[in-house]
Amino acid sequence: MMKILFATNNAHKLSEVQAVLGDGYRLVTPRDCGVTEEIPEEQETLEGNASQKAHYLHDRTGLDCFADDTGLEVEALGGAPGVHSARYATDGHDFAANNRLLLKNLEGVENRRARFRTVISLILNGEEHFFEGIVEGRILDHETGHEGFGFDPLFVPEGSERSFAEMSAAEKNAVSHRGRAVRKLAEFLHAHEK
Ligand code: IMP
Repeated sequence: MMKILFATNNAHKLSEVQAVLGDGYRLVTPRDCGVTEEIPEEQETLEGNASQKAHYLHDRTGLDCFADDTGLEVEALGGAPGVHSARYATDGHDFAANNRLLLKNLEGVENRRARFRTVISLILNGEEHFFEGIVEGRILDHETGHEGFGFDPLFVPEGSERSFAEMSAAEKNAVSHRGRAVRKLAEFLHAHEK
């Protein structure tokens, strides 16, 4: 079994990613490695933030590791909140406030098209590799469902009538931005395992 450090303390993300990677990998968190401070993400792109987080952890631990960064890109808002998704409404990770602000900014707006985009930066044997996952969809005019996290109650992926928050973790992973990016990561890890 390969141990790999994943730059998150978000329990939802951890279980989504562990489910996609399967039993061959054991995910270790920053806390497990004694990194308890918040990992900086100060860049203006998803790629930049994923890379900054992965390098930060690699510099401190020397371990193979990966980090992801995700943004919700809403067409009618010119791609916002994008890289600022976590701090859309406040400077904390206040999911309820973010959802309220998104609904407010889309009041009366007919074009509800949006997509989630995830970028993963992997540092393996000291080299960096990037993987991307995108899911297209639309923003509802009210929240539905209680599963998942973040904008899940407002986002319906293309080809479905249900929001991510109405899906099981397995259903969400099958089509989600993060599921897609992590499957590319898993293929790469399988191919490069020694
Ligand atoms: P992060 O920086 O990758 O944690 O993501 C930034 C923000 O995007 C989070 O605070 C969430 O609001 C939102 N987000 C990320 N992934 C998801 C998801 O899978 N579903 C819903 N919202 C998400």
